[in-house]
Amino acid sequence: MILKKILNVGVIRPLRGIKLQTQSQAIRLISCDRKSYPKILITGGLGQLGTECAKLLRSAYGEEHVILSDIIKPSDEIVNSGPYIFADILDFKGLQKIVVNHRIDWIIHFSALLSAIGEQNVPLAVRVNIEGLHNVIELAKQYKLRVFVPSTIGAFGPDSPRNPTPNVTIQRPRTIYGVSKVHGELIGEYYHHKFGLDFRCLRFPGVISSDPPGGGTTDYAVAIFFDALKTGKYECYLKPDTRLPMMYIDDCLRSLHEFMITPPEKLKRRVYNVTAMSFTPEELANELANYVPELHVSYKPDTRQLIADSWPQVFDDSEARRDWGWEHKYDLKKLVELMVNDVMENYVKKERKHYTDSVV
Ligand code: SER
Repeated sequence: MILKKILNVGVIRPLRGIKLQTQSQAIRLISCDRKSYPKILITGGLGQLGTECAKLLRSAYGEEHVILSDIIKPSDEIVNSGPYIFADILDFKGLQKIVVNHRIDWIIHFSALLSAIGEQNVPLAVRVNIEGLHNVIELAKQYKLRVFVPSTIGAFGPDSPRNPTPNVTIQRPRTIYGVSKVHGELIGEYYHHKFGLDFRCLRFPGVISSDPPGGGTTDYAVAIFFDALKTGKYECYLKPDTRLPMMYIDDCLRSLHEFMITPPEKLKRRVYNVTAMSFTPEELANELANYVPELHVSYKPDTRQLIADSWPQVFDDSEARRDWGWEHKYDLKKLVELMVNDVMENYVKKERKHYTDSVV
């Protein structure tokens, strides 16, 4: 009741989507004034997670508190939705300037080449995923920033237990993406123990959203929605029974935010597995067939099959659930419903309208 009253005072919006575990936590969160909200820089901001992450954090901390950055020229929509700047993670001085000029408190470091594309350009993956991370970690140490770096199911390999894959086990990945992510986990933990760096890292499964990922092994689980809803067909590059852990983007970003605001004393480690579900292409296609009854999926495995075969099938995220209360909201059924609506409304119908308008 008291909590409700405080929330209703309307001084500051309660944090969207955040489960307030205790009344005192809620009061602490909302009684600080807007100026004490963190100033956040997101690198690799125009990848799969950046714009939605900025949306979530801006709704919690205010538009001006979240700066999206990348080396890509932004669309009007991006520029109109909040601060956007150029940032090259390979340029240490440039990053330093941004941190100083914008008085950054948190860095969310999304820049990385994913698993499949990384194999096609190993030297670039080394530069972006390893050298870029070194810059960010060193900067975070110098300016005492809280830094978030996503890791992945790809940080495991053929020697790891696959069902389930616990938080601490053999890793030894066989992709440059996985190797760079294990390196990131270890160097972040090292800086934490040696220099007190507030390093936070979640190992994400395949993330599903209507913003397309670029060059991952789990990308099929996004592409299938676009192809199925546009053409009724999909050719899958993984075998029908390839089981991989997955998560809807809202769960993924909520886990990131909840983890970032967890008081340090609750964190028993700095790297946690998180997940929501596991499914195979066949199971996803069966669920999607409820919306596209004529759906025809064919299977033509390529080199990504080898990568998927070395990854976890079921991810054990019980430590995240125990230590900081992680709980997913979206299962396969809900995920498919949301993706069908989103892709239909925001892509397929718009494209059809564009086509009709240009023909008329
Ligand atoms: N989605 C990533 C990939 O497939 C895994 O983290 O590379």
